[in-house]
Amino acid sequence: MTATASPDDTRNTPVLEARDLSVVHPASRGRGPARAVDGVNLSIGRGEIVALIGESGCGKSTLARALVGLTKPTHGQVRYQGTPLDYSAKALKAYRRHVQLVLQDPGGALNPKQNVYDAVALGPRLHKLHDGLPDRVHHALARAGLRPPEDFVSRYPHELSGGQQQRVVIGGVLALDPQVMIADEPVASLDASVRGEILKLILRLRDELGLSALVVSHDLGLAWNIADRVAVMYLGRVVEQGTVEEVLLRPKHPYTRALLSVVPSGAEDWRPTLLTGEPPDPTAIPSGCRFHPRCGRWAAVPEAERADAACDRRELPVLASDSAGAACHLLDTNPANHPLTETV
Ligand SMILES: Nc1ncnc2c1ncn2[C@@H]1O[C@H](COP(=O)(O)OP(=O)(O)OP(=O)(O)O)[C@@H](O)[C@H]1O
Ligand code: SF4
Ligand SMILES: [Mg+2]
Repeated sequence: MTATASPDDTRNTPVLEARDLSVVHPASRGRGPARAVDGVNLSIGRGEIVALIGESGCGKSTLARALVGLTKPTHGQVRYQGTPLDYSAKALKAYRRHVQLVLQDPGGALNPKQNVYDAVALGPRLHKLHDGLPDRVHHALARAGLRPPEDFVSRYPHELSGGQQQRVVIGGVLALDPQVMIADEPVASLDASVRGEILKLILRLRDELGLSALVVSHDLGLAWNIADRVAVMYLGRVVEQGTVEEVLLRPKHPYTRALLSVVPSGAEDWRPTLLTGEPPDPTAIPSGCRFHPRCGRWAAVPEAERADAACDRRELPVLASDSAGAACHLLDTNPANHPLTETV
C-alpha cells in the first residue's frame, strides 16, 4: 500500500532541497575536473530564509545554479516540494516560474535598451501570462518597493540607481509569483547605504508573501541581518549549519570561527584568526577533512596525539540537510572560544 502524505508531512517537506548534490566542472585549459559542489545536503523550508556563506570559489554560485536547474548535477538530486527535478525543457520552464534566480549585478541583468515595464514583463510574457499584464507588472514593482510604479515603468536602467535596478530585477522575479528566490550575492555590488534596504525588502517578502529564499554571500555578518538558518560552505561542502543563533553565537567549526573572527567585535582584545595555507582548490581536494591544511585546531594537536586525531586521513560524515552541527570530529565546545557573545 502506498503511504499518503499527511498535512503535517506536507508542511514539513522542504520547499527546495539539495540531496547529496555534486557538480563537477569538466577539465579545461590545463586544469583538472573541478569538484565545485561535492556532496551537499541543504534544505529551504516554506517561508524560510537560508544564508549560504563561504569564501570565493567554494562553490556557492555553482550550487545556486544547480538549484534553479541551470546546471545539471553530476550526482544527487534537486527536489522541489518533495519531487526530484525533471530536466526536460518543458518541465524546467515550468519549474523556473517557481524558483527564480537573482544575480549580484543588476546592471548586467537588465537590458540597457529595455524600459522597466518591459524588463518586469519579460518573465510573464515568456510564460504566456498575457491577461492583466499591466496590473501584474505594476503590482510587482510596488511589492519590490518602487512606488508609485507609474513613476518607474518608462525609465531605462541608466536612469535608475543601483538599488532601484536591483528592485526592478526583484520586481521581475515577483511578477511570476515564485515560491523560492535564490539570490546570489544580491547586495555585493551595491553601496553600503542601500544594502540594508534590499535585505529588508527580502525579509518583507518572506513575511508578506511567504517567499522562501536562499541568500548567497561571502559575508557571514549578512546572515545575522536576514537569515533564519545559516549553512557554511567550504570547498564544495556544507561544513556547518544551524539556526543563526547556533552558528553565529555558538560556532563549532574552526572555519566558521575563522570567518566570524574577522567581523570586528569592538572588544579590546579582538584579533582576527587569519586563515593560513593555500586557497582551496576544487581540482585537488585534500584527503581526510578537506579543511585540515588550513585548520588551526588540527595544527595545535600535539604530535603524539596526531595518529588518533587523524584529521589528514579520517573522512568526515556529510551533514544531513535537516541536522544542525559541524563536520569536525574535534569539536571545541568551550564557550570562551566563541568569537561572538550574546551582546551582539
Ligand atoms: N564553468 C566552469 N568550468 C570550470 N570550473 C568552474 C566553472 N564554474 C566554476 N568553476 C570553478 O568551480 C569552483 C566554484 O566556483 P563558484 O563560482 O561556484 O564559486 P563561488 O563560491 O560562487 O565563488 P565567488 O564567491 O567568487 O562567486 C571554482 O574553483 C571555479 O573556478
Ligand atoms: S576535523 Fe580536524 S582538520 Fe577538520 S575542522 Fe575538525 S579539527 Fe580541523
Ligand atoms: Mg559566486
